[in-house]
Amino acid sequence: MEFFEYVNNELTCEGVKIKDVAAAVGTPAYIYSKKAFVDSFNEIKDAFSQADPLVCFSVKSNSNLSILKALKAEGSGFDVVSGGELFRALKIGCDPKKIVFAGVGKSSEEIKYAIESDILLFDVESWSEIRNINRIAKELNKTAEIAIRINPDVDAKTHSKTTTGKKENKFGIDLVTARRIIAEASDYGNVNISGIHVHLGSPIHDTEPYEKGLAKINEFIPECRKNGVDIKYLNIGGGYCISYTGKKELRPNEYAAKMLELIEKTGCKLIMEPGRFISGNAGILVANVIYNKENDIGKKFVICDAAMNDLIRPALYDSFHRIWPVSTDIQMPEVEVPDEKISNDKLEIVDVVGPVCESSDVFAKDRGLPPVEENDLLAIFSAGAYGFTMSSPYNSRPRACEVLVNGDKFDIIRRRETYDDLVALEEN
Ligand code: LLP
Repeated sequence: MEFFEYVNNELTCEGVKIKDVAAAVGTPAYIYSKKAFVDSFNEIKDAFSQADPLVCFSVKSNSNLSILKALKAEGSGFDVVSGGELFRALKIGCDPKKIVFAGVGKSSEEIKYAIESDILLFDVESWSEIRNINRIAKELNKTAEIAIRINPDVDAKTHSKTTTGKKENKFGIDLVTARRIIAEASDYGNVNISGIHVHLGSPIHDTEPYEKGLAKINEFIPECRKNGVDIKYLNIGGGYCISYTGKKELRPNEYAAKMLELIEKTGCKLIMEPGRFISGNAGILVANVIYNKENDIGKKFVICDAAMNDLIRPALYDSFHRIWPVSTDIQMPEVEVPDEKISNDKLEIVDVVGPVCESSDVFAKDRGLPPVEENDLLAIFSAGAYGFTMSSPYNSRPRACEVLVNGDKFDIIRRRETYDDLVALEEN
């Protein structure tokens, strides 16, 4: 997390002290670095520049309008998966021809909205969906551009809950069915099959799954063309990993080195849908320690004011997020190995937990942490992707605010919810 660093024992973001931001906005708070978003966007775009990619930021990873605006200014398009995400992309003035729409269950209303908005492509995930898009496009007297999302039956070797490219997963269309669709392409007068899409899972720590997927697609695209279906776009999805532990992970240029040749062989315009790579290490969640607690077997709990409703990844996927005090003279280790207890007598072994009434409301189990006291601030790192977007008001806890640091300034880009917000839609 190069944009969040300790300077004189204080965590800073782009030089702004996190404790000053927390004092101004309260906790829990998501704090993002604008420069981190912009630099990561450009890093991935530049790595694949040989193929002149349209980089469509995956809105589900972080959908705040200010973030989308910042990325749009860099030339980003957007990968959306719902009418709501499409609304967000259009609201910030994104060129609809830079929007791609994926998802296994697009409703007729969402399809109509997207066709009327003139988006670039639907990534279609079933035969039924193609028929529905064709029907709606016909009613609107339009032609919808579609990419077939191929499920190549490739194991992305990631968490089972975020694997999407295997036969047992609900996503995409297997190659046998895809061939039948191509053979019948001319039956669908109001859809034009102009792309192939593949997204294997997230995060993917190796290039091999991408290479395997691309190899299968390279066999399939010539078959499409032989059948008179002109495939112009290749959308290789997202999944590019980040480091959650401090350990070195693959960078975009390393993915590109293994993938570019296979991409160029398709002769298609490249579309990419990175989410986590751009947003993951651009944000932290800051929490305040409410209580310390120790039981009769000596187990210690640090109870903070952020909870699983704010960041659900540890509860849902057992995800590892580094946690360290915002102000401390003890240096954070360069690399942390999940499940390995740090033997350092300056640290205490604790569970970091939230106030929600669920045993899974645990951010870290048996973690080495510098001793903290009530009202100390904690930073939960790598929380910019699938953090706020997956948050909820469970336990009627108002959702956290989001703050964007830009140089030496910071702005609240989503205010903290209030108790009135919690009930606003229920009152009449
Ligand atoms: N494209 C499609 C079609 C996707 O389904 C996804 C993510 C992406 C792109 C972006 O993937 P990324 O580059 O961010 O890896 N909530 C989980 C991750 C779920 C990913 C869902 N799809 C987590 O917190 O790890």
